[in-house]
Amino acid sequence: MKITLETERLYLREFTIDDAQLLIDLNSDIDVTRYTGDGLVKDIDEAKRILTDIILPQYKNKIGRWAVHLKSTDEFIGWCGLKYLVETNELDLGYRFFKIHWGKGYATESARAVNDYGVNTLKLTSIVARAAKANVASINVIKKMGMVYLKDEMCAHDPAEVYILK
Ligand SMILES: CC(C)(COP(=O)(O)OP(=O)(O)OC[C@H]1O[C@@H](n2cnc3c(N)ncnc32)[C@H](O)[C@@H]1OP(=O)(O)O)[C@@H](O)C(=O)NCCC(=O)NCCS
Repeated sequence: MKITLETERLYLREFTIDDAQLLIDLNSDIDVTRYTGDGLVKDIDEAKRILTDIILPQYKNKIGRWAVHLKSTDEFIGWCGLKYLVETNELDLGYRFFKIHWGKGYATESARAVNDYGVNTLKLTSIVARAAKANVASINVIKKMGMVYLKDEMCAHDPAEVYILK
């Protein structure tokens, strides 16, 4: 297991091709994907394709969406991390957790560790985050990161806000 980051309550590790079922489980809740622009991962083959084509290639640049686990039980609770967006040449902070783990500060805790790593270790000069305006929890997390409002845009058919950390 390749652990990238640790916080007080969490560790963040690289996904592997064996984690396909975790992606299926996480996206199976419509409340989790309400504002994310994707939806159900239909089967193991699709989950493996997401890992192979989208998630795993990011790790070679020392960034990526990392699997987040509770230190206390090793339970997988979701993911958090940085993704390079080719279309906009941006490093994008993202996170997603099972509903039973919402409201416990895990997004804030993991996102803070990811941003610190991006700025202090990778020496990134900017990180962006975007969330649907209606996704109040996500906007709150972004604001708690000290990220500042940059612009409005549409995100998966929802009016959204883009924030930046410089
Ligand atoms: C967005 C998400 C990651 C937040 O995770 P979380 O671990 O619950 O977030 P945290 O507990 O760290 O912080 C959420 C903050 O928003 C607040 N909040 C949550 N829901 C809220 C709501 N409906 N209205 C107002 N505030 C809300 C919380 O009180 C907390 O703020 P506080 O620390 O000042 O009390 C989680 O809801 C999720 O996985 N959603 C589905 C996937 C998703 O939308 N990802 C983001 C795409 S941009």
